[in-house]
Amino acid sequence: MRQIKTNVYAVGTIDWDRRLFDELIPLPDGTSYNAYLIASSEKTALLDTVDPTKTSVLMDNLAKAGVDNIDYVIAHHAEQDHSGSLPDVLRKFPNAKVVTNPKCKAMLIDLLNISEDKFITIDDGQTLSLGDKTLQFIYIPWVHWPETIGTYLQEDKIFFTCDFFGSHLAASGLFVEDEGAVYEAAKRYYAEIMMPFRTTVKKNLEKIENLQIDIIAPSHGPVHNKPQFIINAYKDWAGEQVKNEVVVPYISMHKSTGKMVEYFVDALIKRGITVKQFDLAATDIGKLAMALVDAATIVIGSPTVLTGAHPLVVYACALANALRPKQKFASIIGSYGWGGRMVEQITGLIGNLKVEVLEPVITKGFPKDNDFAALEKLADEILAKHKVLGISK
Ligand code: FEO
Repeated sequence: MRQIKTNVYAVGTIDWDRRLFDELIPLPDGTSYNAYLIASSEKTALLDTVDPTKTSVLMDNLAKAGVDNIDYVIAHHAEQDHSGSLPDVLRKFPNAKVVTNPKCKAMLIDLLNISEDKFITIDDGQTLSLGDKTLQFIYIPWVHWPETIGTYLQEDKIFFTCDFFGSHLAASGLFVEDEGAVYEAAKRYYAEIMMPFRTTVKKNLEKIENLQIDIIAPSHGPVHNKPQFIINAYKDWAGEQVKNEVVVPYISMHKSTGKMVEYFVDALIKRGITVKQFDLAATDIGKLAMALVDAATIVIGSPTVLTGAHPLVVYACALANALRPKQKFASIIGSYGWGGRMVEQITGLIGNLKVEVLEPVITKGFPKDNDFAALEKLADEILAKHKVLGISK
C-alpha cells in the first residue's frame, strides 16, 4: 500500500510477467491492476479491484493496511481485470455496497453473478460523501466498453479514470518517472482498445476540460502527477491531424513483394516521408496499431497465395479495419504468379477505413522496370496528397 495523498492509497498489484492480454494483445512491459483506497472520516471506499489472478495480493495489501471495513466498492468498469476480485472482496467485507452506473451493474451481474441487492447505482455527475472527502462520478463511456465511469475526488483534485489514460506498464514507481516509456505504453493501449471509439474519446476529453485535475490515477500503469502530459497526448492521438507518415505492413514469400516494398520504402524516404515498415511474419501487432494512430497513409504489401491475400495480411487488414484508424489514403502493392483477387479482397477487408484508395501496383512475378516506375508514381501521388493536407513540404 502506497500513499498518493492523505488517506488516499494505491492498493493494487503489479503484474511484471504478463505478456498477453485478452489472448490477443502483447504486453511487452507487463501491466498493473491499480486499485485505490480512500479512508475518509466516516466511510471507506475501494476504487476498483484487480485481475482475478492477483486477488490474494489485493487481499494481503488490505490486510496489511489494517482495513477491517469497506463501505463502498466503486466499480468503474465491468471488465474482469478490474472487477475480477469483486466477489472475494464482497465476501470478505459483507457490508460493502458496489457503487456504479446501471449499465455496469447489469454487466457485473451477468459476468460475475453479483447479487442485485449489493448495488447502489449513480447518475452522471452525482456525488457521494465519505465524510471529509467527496466522490463525484463522471461517465466516460467507450474507453473501450460502454459502461465505464471515472471518479473525481473533489477535495484532492484526483481523477480516477480506469482504462482511460492508462498504460500497460509494470513499474516500481507509483508516479510517472520515465515519460518516454509511459508515452509509448499509453499510446499502445490507446491504439489497441480506444482508437475505434476516437469520436467518443474526444467527447470525454471535452467533458473534463474544465475539471481541475492535479492527479490522474488510472487503473493500469503509473499515476500521472503531471496530468497535462497524458491529456495532451490523448488530444493529439484522438484529434483529426495526421502525420507525413506511411505505414507499410507486408508479407513476402519469395521476395517479389519484398523487393517492391524495399524499393517503394526507399522512394518514400527520398521524398521526405516517414515510413514505418512491418514484416507481418514477425510483427508485434501493438507496434502496428501504434503506427496506425498517426499516419496519413497505409500501403499494404501482399503476395497472392491460394488466389487471395496472404492469411497474415488478411489478419492485419481485419485488425486495422476493427481499429478504425484515421488514415486518409491507402494503397496495395504486391505480386502474383498466375492470377487471383488479392486487391479486391484487401480493399473489401478495410471498408471501415475512410480512405481514398490510390492506384495499386501489382506485378506478375519479380518486379521489373515498369513496376518500379509505377512505384515511383505511387510515391509521387502520396507526396502530392500529403502536400494538399499541408503535412509535407
Ligand atoms: Fe483494463 Fe477494459 O479493462
